[in-house]
Amino acid sequence: MKKVEIAPSILNADFKNLESEIKKVEDLGVKFLHFDVMDGHFVPNISFGAPILASISKIHNMINDVHLMISDPLKYVPDFAKAGADLITFHYESYEEKEKILETIKLIKSLNIKCGISIKPATTVEEILPYLDKVDLVLVMSVEPGFGGQKFNPVALEKIKELNRLKDENNYHYLIEVDGGINAETAISCRSAGVDILVCGTYLYRSKNLKEDYEKLIK
Ligand code: DX5
Ligand code: ZN
Repeated sequence: MKKVEIAPSILNADFKNLESEIKKVEDLGVKFLHFDVMDGHFVPNISFGAPILASISKIHNMINDVHLMISDPLKYVPDFAKAGADLITFHYESYEEKEKILETIKLIKSLNIKCGISIKPATTVEEILPYLDKVDLVLVMSVEPGFGGQKFNPVALEKIKELNRLKDENNYHYLIEVDGGINAETAISCRSAGVDILVCGTYLYRSKNLKEDYEKLIK
């Protein structure tokens, strides 16, 4: 099966020990650290923002993979850039005005940061076709954004396949990332569909045998 990267999401980490929670996933050898930003408006939950990223971005050597689940990414992208984001993914559904989507992509790139676009389970790949030649990553949500620990929605699998097909046909360069409900079983389905990066929160942070459970995702 295709090689896959794991991006542990710290949303379900133990925040009183955040540094050791980060080290523990870095010791697995993962390349990405997934940082879920929620504003209580675009999604019905509030998580953490740029000041927390600024404190943790320098204590590890993983790629700071920032997932903005917020209503007005244009306003906050510079803060996350300053805080150490290496990759910023925003939601297609954040804006009704399509010019703002293009503006957000341009802004992220102008700051020398990799740019991702994300779609919720109800959004089709067709809707983001105009942006596929401009982004470095497409994040397919396999749960409704807002909370960790939800059940994987298989609607993501067809989208992953379609994104792979479009990438091959058009020579696009984006990576395909999937987020929500990833465990040893759903990882296999996503990898068969051709995903590049698996975001994984609850499964890893609630694991009693981290190394062993991590191996199940990549073997
Ligand atoms: C959901 C977030 C996730 C999520 C992943 O809104 O984007 O990254 O917390 O967590 P699990 O693996 O618990 O579904
Ligand atoms: Zn996420």
